[in-house]
Amino acid sequence: MQLGPYTLPNTLFVAPMAGVTDRPFRKLCKRLGAGYAVSEMVTSRPDLQSSLKTSRRADHSGEPGPIAVQIAGTDAQMMADAARYNIDRGAQIIDINMGCPAKKVCNKWAGSALMQDETLALEIVQAVVNACAPYGVPVTLKMRTGWSAEGKNAPTIALAAESAGVQMLTVHGRTREQGYKGFAEHDTVAQIKSRVKIPVVANGDIDSPEKAREVLARTGADAVMVGRAAQGRPWIFREIAYFLDTGEHLPPPDLVEVKGWLLEHLEDHYSLYGEFTGVRSARKHLGWYAQALPLPVGAAAVFRAHINTLTTAQAQLDCVRENLDAWTTAGLEHSMTREDNWKMAA
Ligand SMILES: Cc1cc2nc3c(=O)[nH]c(=O)nc-3n(C[C@H](O)[C@H](O)[C@H](O)COP(=O)(O)O)c2cc1C
Repeated sequence: MQLGPYTLPNTLFVAPMAGVTDRPFRKLCKRLGAGYAVSEMVTSRPDLQSSLKTSRRADHSGEPGPIAVQIAGTDAQMMADAARYNIDRGAQIIDINMGCPAKKVCNKWAGSALMQDETLALEIVQAVVNACAPYGVPVTLKMRTGWSAEGKNAPTIALAAESAGVQMLTVHGRTREQGYKGFAEHDTVAQIKSRVKIPVVANGDIDSPEKAREVLARTGADAVMVGRAAQGRPWIFREIAYFLDTGEHLPPPDLVEVKGWLLEHLEDHYSLYGEFTGVRSARKHLGWYAQALPLPVGAAAVFRAHINTLTTAQAQLDCVRENLDAWTTAGLEHSMTREDNWKMAA
């Protein structure tokens, strides 16, 4: 798939998730089969650009390109300035956030709330496209199906965004009102795909190779984007890729391989956040990994409880190493399914 000057290695994308898809996690997803990743959203507020949180989000060192940075805001001029600011810091693609249900920017409704005000939404799109054009940087748009069940205006916005120069659309098959409740529907994605010429990416509740194949077939979308199902399971991308290529399932990764990925993830995580913050913010990733792995009954909960007591990088690394070694030696791999572990954790 082509996005401006960039040829993507495949059409399996990792979704932007604030607090999750930071640079270390995106790098790992890309290494394990994702063809493309979008950064966590970065605020367009200039007064926050030098904050530690935003500057970490704008740090792309060592990440394989293309570097796609998502910006969020409610003011067209500020969004255009934010696009230029991020291009100066290495962004090669700018993604506009119209998908997030959170109330965030300038205490105003940003993200998917913009879909309620089509005039403002398109003003922002046009301003960002105009700002990026002199740099040859493609602009993409991520949105929901609309504000509410009665107001599914994503197809209208999609057509207008295409006319304004947007080069790719991602659609999460829920309305703003739904938040994350209910199920994602992909018929609106299919409708959009049938109307526009630019690539369309389907997103929402894709959590298995079968679901990816089904959504691709149902929508005709050019790519699928996976969010929550990649938490603790970044290897889902190579599993989907293998299944789409062969119709067969890739065997689950063995725990020796997983240990290597986890240690690599942790080291990269500490290098971005420093030890104090890094050890604490890595806990959620480790919890998700434990949930996703086929471990013996109760092992994930014990592991998580222990991890939460550790306060140094060395102790966290040792704990991961020791547990993965013990689970491997015990030969307990695949004694439980990921779904069993989730039930235990619920
Ligand atoms: C923790 C979390 C953070 C998210 N942050 C963002 C974000 O920064 N920008 C965005 O466009 N969407 C964000 N999303 C939405 C996801 O990109 C995605 O559209 C949604 O989770 C549906 O996909 P899934 O069912 O594969 O998770 C976030 C979702 C989660 C769960």
